[in-house]
Amino acid sequence: MVVQINLEFAAKDASSAVKRGDLIVVIDVLRCSTSIMNALANGAKSVVPTMTLREAYDLHSLHPDFLLAGERKGCRPKGFDLGNSPSEFISGRVCGRDLVMTTTSGTVALVKSREAKWVLVGAFLNAASVARKAAQIVEDEGTNVSLVLSGERGQFSLEDFMCAGAIVERLSTRDVRCCDEALAALLAFKQAKNSLCENIMTAQHARHLAKLGFKRDVEFSCQLDILSTIPIYRDGKITKLG
Ligand code: MLT
Repeated sequence: MVVQINLEFAAKDASSAVKRGDLIVVIDVLRCSTSIMNALANGAKSVVPTMTLREAYDLHSLHPDFLLAGERKGCRPKGFDLGNSPSEFISGRVCGRDLVMTTTSGTVALVKSREAKWVLVGAFLNAASVARKAAQIVEDEGTNVSLVLSGERGQFSLEDFMCAGAIVERLSTRDVRCCDEALAALLAFKQAKNSLCENIMTAQHARHLAKLGFKRDVEFSCQLDILSTIPIYRDGKITKLG
């Protein structure tokens, strides 16, 4: 069976992927996907994404034992336990805990995807594992894949596009057919992959994060295929698949 790989450029376009009935992989390399993955890899029980700060604060009032995590303008909002640096989600902080998370774009893309049967979270860290699992599920179920880029404040972002390319490359060992956007992501990734971090560092959001003192987050997020963790978003929360 030939699997179609579709690509959506920004969080707001997730609804098109949901309408198609595709398995969705939400990508927000800098930094939401990477932080969620690191939290789950370090033993967090679940991450509940919210679109707004208000929802996050309200959920936290209902569940004061949950950790509040996320960012606005890149920084930890008032009263939050954790920001959005992947390095903050260490086992000493998150192991055995449930988290509420809100970020500018990543959690928006997630919540907008929530009606899909399958929503996985992708980043460079788990590109190989998420591609393998996505291929297995869509082959079993006879559906297709949509890569949904979170982008940055509604705009295209290079690092998410490159990560989509990495996932397409890893899916290409199967019988796949790509839309032109997915093919372009693959070509861009192939061009950039030998100096991935240097190339990502030139992107707008990476430069912004570096200016805020988060250059190490960008470096961490550019590591390819180092985690087998596959976050799955279902019934309002993200947990580790399997
Ligand atoms: C987002 O969701 O917009 C990002 O994770 C922002 C960030 O890098 O903190």
